[in-house]
Amino acid sequence: MGISYFIAALIGTTLCTSAEKIPQSPSPEPIKVVELPLPPVAPSDSPGACTPKINPHLTGCIDRTSEQRSGNFLPDNNHIVATVNFTGAPAHPDPASIFSGPQLIIIRTNGTTFPNGDPWKCITCGVPASNKKCSTTQADYPQAFKDGKRVLVGNNIVDGGAYLASSACTPNSTHIYPIRWNTKADGTGSGGDIRELRIHPDNVHLGFNAFEYGGPSVDQFGYFARLSFNPNPASGEPRTPRYDLVNVTRLYNPKLPPPIGADGENLVLNFSAITVGELRGFTGRGDEAIYVGSSWESDNIDLFAVGLATGAVRRITEHPGYADPIDVSQDNQWNVVLDTRGTNRTMFMDAMRHIPPLTDLVTVTAASSIRNNGKRRFFQPWLLDRAGDRGTYFGQQINADGDGSPGSVNDPMWNAMADPRWSWDQTKIAYYQALTVPPACGGVNPLPCPTSTAPGGRTYRIMLAHLTSREPVELQPVEPVSDVVPWGTSYVPGSPAPARYFPPGGQYTLKGSHSGRVIVNIRENSSKTAVQSVAVKYFNYSNDGVNYIDGNENATLTSISKTDSVTNIFANLTSSGESPGRKYTSPDGFHLRMDIMTNMFEANGTLTTTVNGSTYEQPRNFT
Ligand SMILES: *[C@@H]1O[C@H](CO)[C@@H](O)[C@H](O)[C@H]1NC(C)=O
Ligand SMILES: *[C@@H]1O[C@H](CO)[C@@H](O)[C@H](O)[C@H]1NC(C)=O
Ligand SMILES: *[C@@H]1O[C@H](CO)[C@@H](O)[C@H](O)[C@H]1NC(C)=O
Ligand SMILES: *[C@@H]1O[C@H](CO)[C@@H](O)[C@H](O)[C@H]1NC(C)=O
Ligand SMILES: *[C@@H]1O[C@H](CO)[C@@H](O)[C@H](O)[C@H]1NC(C)=O
Ligand SMILES: *[C@@H]1O[C@H](CO)[C@@H](O)[C@H](O)[C@H]1NC(C)=O
Ligand SMILES: *[C@@H]1O[C@H](CO)[C@@H](O)[C@H](O)[C@H]1NC(C)=O
Ligand SMILES: *[C@@H]1O[C@H](CO)[C@@H](O)[C@H](O)[C@H]1NC(C)=O
Ligand SMILES: *[C@@H]1O[C@H](CO)[C@@H](O)[C@H](O)[C@H]1NC(C)=O
Ligand SMILES: *[C@@H]1O[C@H](CO)[C@@H](O)[C@H](O)[C@H]1NC(C)=O
Ligand SMILES: *[C@@H]1O[C@H](CO)[C@@H](O)[C@H](O)[C@H]1NC(C)=O
Ligand SMILES: *[C@@H]1O[C@H](CO)[C@@H](O)[C@H](O)[C@H]1NC(C)=O
Repeated sequence: MGISYFIAALIGTTLCTSAEKIPQSPSPEPIKVVELPLPPVAPSDSPGACTPKINPHLTGCIDRTSEQRSGNFLPDNNHIVATVNFTGAPAHPDPASIFSGPQLIIIRTNGTTFPNGDPWKCITCGVPASNKKCSTTQADYPQAFKDGKRVLVGNNIVDGGAYLASSACTPNSTHIYPIRWNTKADGTGSGGDIRELRIHPDNVHLGFNAFEYGGPSVDQFGYFARLSFNPNPASGEPRTPRYDLVNVTRLYNPKLPPPIGADGENLVLNFSAITVGELRGFTGRGDEAIYVGSSWESDNIDLFAVGLATGAVRRITEHPGYADPIDVSQDNQWNVVLDTRGTNRTMFMDAMRHIPPLTDLVTVTAASSIRNNGKRRFFQPWLLDRAGDRGTYFGQQINADGDGSPGSVNDPMWNAMADPRWSWDQTKIAYYQALTVPPACGGVNPLPCPTSTAPGGRTYRIMLAHLTSREPVELQPVEPVSDVVPWGTSYVPGSPAPARYFPPGGQYTLKGSHSGRVIVNIRENSSKTAVQSVAVKYFNYSNDGVNYIDGNENATLTSISKTDSVTNIFANLTSSGESPGRKYTSPDGFHLRMDIMTNMFEANGTLTTTVNGSTYEQPRNFT
């Protein structure tokens, strides 16, 4: 593998200063997408269904409909880590009995095979019980460490004891250690529930999220911690070798200015506010954390970066589409983002831009949930340069080059799942997709179900995009960053989570920075624990002298449970100037029921947005 040029580790950080110039947007580049091999599909889940005829190498079969997830690359750039769900294995003591259940595998990405003829190798199959005490399911977000020996998978670290692709890495050399977050003052118990784990590029820190159920509705905070191997824990469960999360920082600080603050009778928007809603990972050089944060434009959910040391906030996406999973290239210069842009899915609610995020105090749940229909996501992978969306540049769809037919790389019935991943040399991107399946199609659903064209009728597939015009890049390892995130809050085990600030009920004015104003009425619910409704009236409101907003909107939340609610919207907004448009509801308003645990689209009434003569309507219920 020829390395054509060498970039010093500093390049990312030197470019990341406030003096950073907005570069010209890149031209589209050639990208070739192929599907990666997976173990064969078992005809059923019965023991022994995975016969030697189906897999002559006796190395297992996978379940047809289970989620098969791709992760990042090993440092050789010729393998990715992935998790699959084996099934149909013969019973013990058949040696093939080990190919059962959710397991971590590695897959060759260059078309070659391992010595046994398979293009994959199972890493966790057959690991002795004594090497994996108290480990948990190995399925979510597999991420290899840069040593090529260890992989974060689910809430565990798999340590192969040797380079995973080498013959020295065997089931007996492999250990699986659970990760524990202590949430009790006395250190007892099994620790807190952590989710969405992301390795920091320094390979010694971990980012994660945790739900908070103490408040009136479910909240979530992002955290940053150091991984510390504990071979012989003296407290807490499990009392087996494990990784402890130490020096934990909650990426929220109630003392810092909120994104929407109250200053007497005025509302103040602060786009420098740090608003980690869900932590999504880190930039390639590890200098920034990436998150889904409070919107800058009404109902438009975007990705942001914040300097871990500096607290400086940078917006990455602007497109009205919903963005969430992201991976940043090792040199910090490129993003791959999963986004609904290109599908118009969320445009009925957010296509009109430059509306300040005021009704969002109530509509954020709706705005961030309409992206899905139950298990069906509407994501595709997009390539975006470091400076992100700007002007008319909204990146390049990575899998655009196809005829859209069933099973093609751009078949809209195959939707991308988290996370896409850059190869270390930045010439490849791995991602995976799920086929639309019932109840998101078929039966009473007006959308007919597609037939899988994947091998064995699989409903998941792992894809590899080759950025064919790029030369491989090699970079220095990332130096460990500080345990301390100065703008966060040091986490004290057992302490209650803070309630997020919202402006108290009342009437406010928000002045446009260029012209006009908005009169804002905020009403809290009777327990004053949440905003119940926001009503806004715009008068020639403009921040830029280019786009002007007029008209009314109000939004009211009716909670059904901590996760289930109805968002009621009445809108009649007009935008004049550069992109004339309207955002309006039917006379009876728009009423969207959304349980964030299922995300099924169910609405009465209509919400419609027109911009520059294009009309965007909401999806039909349950589609
Ligand atoms: C794995 O497949 C089995 C069926 O063989 C299923 O019961 C189980 O839920 C699946 N597990 C995961 C994690 O997908
Ligand atoms: C494919 O990857 C393997 C594993 O890194 C490597 O040994 C082999 O040389 C590669 N082959 C080609 C043709 O790139
Ligand atoms: C793996 O270790 C077990 C003991 O834990 C031993 O019985 C077995 O022979 C070892 N397997 C290999 C392939 O070395
Ligand atoms: C206040 O709002 C929260 C969140 O919407 C809700 O769960 C709670 O039931 C409300 N309380 C009252 C008294 O209305
Ligand atoms: C990190 O945690 C360790 C162990 O708990 C402690 O000794 C150390 O002082 C902490 N470091 C910081 C910067 O707080
Ligand atoms: C906005 O937030 C930033 C970051 O916390 C802070 O430095 C700044 O003072 C805030 N501005 C206002 C007007 O509150
Ligand atoms: C999205 O809307 C635009 C503007 O109306 C239209 O040109 C485009 O075809 C739509 N895309 C899809 C996938 O419907
Ligand atoms: C809106 O503000 C602009 C810029 O200040 C001004 O030129 C225009 O006349 C105003 N329009 C109305 C209807 O007030
Ligand atoms: C929202 O607007 C509708 C229609 O104008 C009105 O009936 C309703 O009372 C308003 N709700 C709030 C909270 O202002
Ligand atoms: C919506 O607002 C426009 C002016 O901005 C007005 O002409 C129209 O009558 C309003 N529609 C409704 C249904 O209130
Ligand atoms: C609307 O059209 C104008 C003029 O062609 C263009 O500058 C603007 O970018 C368009 N807006 C959108 C949202 O497409
Ligand atoms: C829609 O209307 C039906 C019939 O009135 C009602 O049963 C249902 O709860 C409503 N759903 C929402 C989200 O408002």
